[in-house]
Order: sequence, then C-alpha cells, then structure tokens
Amino acid sequence: MRIGVAKEIKPQEYRVALTPAGARELVQSGHDVVIETGAGSGSQFADEQYEANGARIAAVDEVWETADLLLKVKEPIASEYPRLREGLVLFTYLHIAADEPLTRALLESGITAVAYETVETDQRALPLLAPMSEIAGRLAAQAGAYFLEKPLGGRGLLLGGVPGVAPGRVLVIGGGIVGYNAAVIALGLGANVTILERSIDRMRHLDEVLSGRVSLVMSSSLQIEESVAEADVVIGAVLIPGALAPKLVTREMLRGMKDGAVLCDVAIDQGGCAETSRPTTHSEPVYEVDGVTHYCVANMPGAVPITSTKALTNATLPYVEAIADRGLREAVSRDPALARGVNVLDGRLTYEAVAEAHGLDYTPLEDVLAARVPG
Ligand SMILES: NC(=O)c1ccc[n+]([C@@H]2O[C@H](COP(=O)([O-])OP(=O)(O)OC[C@H]3O[C@@H](n4cnc5c(N)ncnc54)[C@H](O)[C@@H]3O)[C@@H](O)[C@H]2O)c1
Repeated sequence: MRIGVAKEIKPQEYRVALTPAGARELVQSGHDVVIETGAGSGSQFADEQYEANGARIAAVDEVWETADLLLKVKEPIASEYPRLREGLVLFTYLHIAADEPLTRALLESGITAVAYETVETDQRALPLLAPMSEIAGRLAAQAGAYFLEKPLGGRGLLLGGVPGVAPGRVLVIGGGIVGYNAAVIALGLGANVTILERSIDRMRHLDEVLSGRVSLVMSSSLQIEESVAEADVVIGAVLIPGALAPKLVTREMLRGMKDGAVLCDVAIDQGGCAETSRPTTHSEPVYEVDGVTHYCVANMPGAVPITSTKALTNATLPYVEAIADRGLREAVSRDPALARGVNVLDGRLTYEAVAEAHGLDYTPLEDVLAARVPG
C-alpha cells in the first residue's frame, strides 16, 4: 500500500502523523511511504531522517494524489477539501460532530474517513485520545506551578515548598487519565494533592496506584466549594462522555478562592468545568477573573510537539499497520475498535452521533460494507 503523510497546515500545529521509526516499520513490511516535504520539521524530524529509513519525500500534490492511505494529525481545513477524493482512506483526528462543512465535504468527495478519536475498545477506552490526555494532565501541573509565580500574576508560592515551609495545595477535579497524570506530576513537584472523583471504583484504583499519597474525596457541589477555597492550584479534568463538561466551579465559588490562585481548566475542549472558563491559546494562555489566573488552552499537547508526535504515533501505528497490511475492509472486520473509528465510507455517514449532530442519515458500517462489490 502507498502510505502518504501530509504536512499539517493548521496554524500552530507542529505534530506529524508518522515518525521516522514508524516509517521504517511500514517500509520493512513492504509498504511505500511518501512524506510531504518538511512534514516532520515542527517535531524536529528532518526529511533526511525519513529518507534514511526508507521513505520518500515528495511535494504536497503527489502525497495527496497518489496515496492509498493518508495519515494526518488534524482534520482537513477548507483549503484541503479539494484534495479529498474517492479511493483514499484518510486516518486522522476529525471531530466532525462539531464541523458540518467538513462532514459534507467528506461525504461529497467519496473518501473513506477514519477518526482517531472514535476508535474505541470494547471496554470503552479511547486508545488514540489517551496519549493526549496523559500529556495535557502532566502539562497542567507544570502550568499550575509556573503561573503561581508572582511576576506572572500568581500568589508567589513555590508549589513544592522547602524544608520548614509547607507545600502548596493542588486540587484535581476528575481522576481520569488527565487527573491521574496531573496528580503524578504535582506529587513529583512536592505538592499536597487532593483528587475529587465521582466513581468509587476509579478512586479505589487511584488509591492503589498512587499508594495513598493523595487524598481521594467524593465529588459533590459542597465538597468542590470547600476544596477550591483551600487550593492554590485547581485542575479541571472531568469528562462526561458525549456531553459538555458540567460547570462544577461556579462564579460564586471562584470568589471564595485565594487571590493569585491558578485554575487550569483542561476540560476546556468540552466547554470547561468552571463558569468563568473560555478557551485560550499558547500565545496568550492565561487571563484573570476575580484574582484567579485562568489557564484554559484548548490544545495543550501542541506545546510539546516532540513528545506529542511520538506518543500519538506509538498509539496509531498498530492501526496504520493493520489497515496497510490487510486493507480497510478486513482490518475493520477483525477489529471492532478500529471499525468504530470509521466515520465516512462510500459517501455514507457510518458514525451515528455525527449523523445525529447534523441531522443527516446514518448507515451502519456493516450495511455499507455489505453493499460493496467484493474485493
Ligand atoms: N485542553 C486539552 O488540550 C486537552 C487535552 C486532552 C484532554 N482534554 C480534556 O480533558 C478532559 C478529561 O479527559 P480524560 O481523558 O481524563 O477523561 P476520563 O474519562 O479519563 O476522565 C474523566 C473523569 O472525570 C470523572 N468525573 C465525571 N464527572 C465528575 C464530577 N462531577 N466530579 C468529579 N469527577 C467527575 C469521571 O468519573 C472520570 O474518571 C476531557 O474534557 C478531555 O477532552 C483536554
């Protein structure tokens, strides 16, 4: 199979969908790997590194026009819509439930679109979203520590304290992947960490893996109100699958927080879990409300593209190999997790939530595959 890797052209996107190590694995399996000129530069991978591992470097037109399978990181933007075509399998983050123009462009082009974010195991895990949550969680603790510094508008507190001076308090709301990773780094910095969770099973698991080094407390409105008032850093890490984040930290609660405290609302990509949260960017990551510094960057992993690219491609490569080695049809029939990733096939929407979001017709993947001419 010819596997193309396009350069990301969305502003401030520095990741690339395949590393030179990944390229070598695919080349060794007999595939033809074509990388767009400069595609890896934002993640510090030079064209020569891909070439040294058996890939070919080509201009944008050749990559899009000749690939059987095209790998990207972000969804195609409007200037890329004319490149979508029948016969191409696109594997990338798509998020089309929130993007009707792209949904229509995909359907009209006849392309097959497989979304990283809807690849889902039978245990309801999202293996291609998890690495980004790990990174965002770890970054949130770092951002919290950093923006506590006085010259940056913070309280002027060293999160880890020193011998004789108590450490700062970090409150993590939501103990999933983001929350666990935030807690690990906050603990590593020497902070006093509390996690509020709603799932008792999850709290049992966290208690085991964190060896009792954090306080695990049942989340409730009263508990959140009391805990945010004591915290130096609050990390918002809740998720209700398929829904907007609940507004757990109200404006009233914010008024009770310490002056110069930091609120890192990682859940901002789902609307944020504080009433006062609004999305920010890496160039202007923070703003202040009622004396509380708000850090609400919607694409946190974008700040560390070397780590993000490697973590993402570690997770995507087995799926890329399955599609490349077997073809999409056989790959999805063998792996229900990958099958859930298919959003668009043969001009049909095969992901129900997307169809519902845009009031379009939904066709189950099995029906589209059954209607296909064999081979
Ligand atoms: N800003 C970014 O760059 C970025 C990057 C990655 C993930 N995220 C976002 O971070 C959020 C968390 O992602 P995740 O992968 O950790 O999800 P997850 O499903 O692993 O964890 C969410 C946790 O929140 C808990 N929860 C739900 N309601 C709660 C409540 N009322 N109180 C306390 N806990 C509650 C759940 O029980 C679950 O354990 C999501 O919104 C995700 O989209 C943002």
